[in-house]
Amino acid sequence: MNAILEARDLSAGYDESRILQGVNLALHPGEAIGLMGRNGMGKTTLIRTLIGLLPAREGSVLLDGIDAAALPVFERARRGIAVVPENRGIFASLSVRENLRLAARPGSWSEERVLALFPRLGRRIGNRGNQLSGGEQQMLAIGRALMTNPRVLILDEATEGLAPLMRDEIWRVIGVVREAGVASIIVDKTVDAVLSVADRVVVLVKGSVVHDGPPASLRADPDLMARCLGVAG
Ligand SMILES: Nc1ncnc2c1ncn2[C@@H]1O[C@H](COP(=O)(O)OP(=O)(O)O)[C@@H](O)[C@H]1O
Ligand SMILES: [Mg+2]
Repeated sequence: MNAILEARDLSAGYDESRILQGVNLALHPGEAIGLMGRNGMGKTTLIRTLIGLLPAREGSVLLDGIDAAALPVFERARRGIAVVPENRGIFASLSVRENLRLAARPGSWSEERVLALFPRLGRRIGNRGNQLSGGEQQMLAIGRALMTNPRVLILDEATEGLAPLMRDEIWRVIGVVREAGVASIIVDKTVDAVLSVADRVVVLVKGSVVHDGPPASLRADPDLMARCLGVAG
């Protein structure tokens, strides 16, 4: 079975600096990958390169087995790659409903289904993006991504800076999305939560993959957890 999204010997970076150093990563249909590593190790850079915001310098990004070099960001999105970026990317001056409707594409994730998933957003449906709390903005960002009916949902630090109840809510939704069969790449500092939801965990150190395996293989390696994630063993 082809991977939906794949990085092959991928190198990329900014100006003079090469950040990603020969990354290999393959996301299969329905799979949830936890992408981990300390700050500055290249997680966001990898996401930007996968979605087409940054070009591959060496190696390639493949979408359904086909080299995506010629596909701009919107074309990769059209083919089912949705991202919730670190800055959330919602429209501050538009209402919750308008934000959701602008993202809509045909499929089973309708406005109704998204609101059923996030009842809190339903109660804020007429509020503008900038009238929402941080947690609600994050929910709206995820809701928007789901409205595109993606095959892949990429979440970059979705629970960062949120109150505990809001975090729990986001993790609950990540679980539902996973059960619904949407493949995902989840970047998050909450190691326990990532390990409990992911099928596979990929650890980046200085732009290279130092570990790729099931959560149990990472749990079984406290030294790796301590060195690469800063988690006490
Ligand atoms: N726009 C940019 N221009 C130049 N360097 C950047 C830019 N964004 C990130 N970097 C650098 O790339 C490296 C990896 O950053 P990033 O991918 O954001 O890491 P992570 O998401 O794992 O915290 C860091 O050294 C960071 O300083
Ligand atoms: Mg980042």
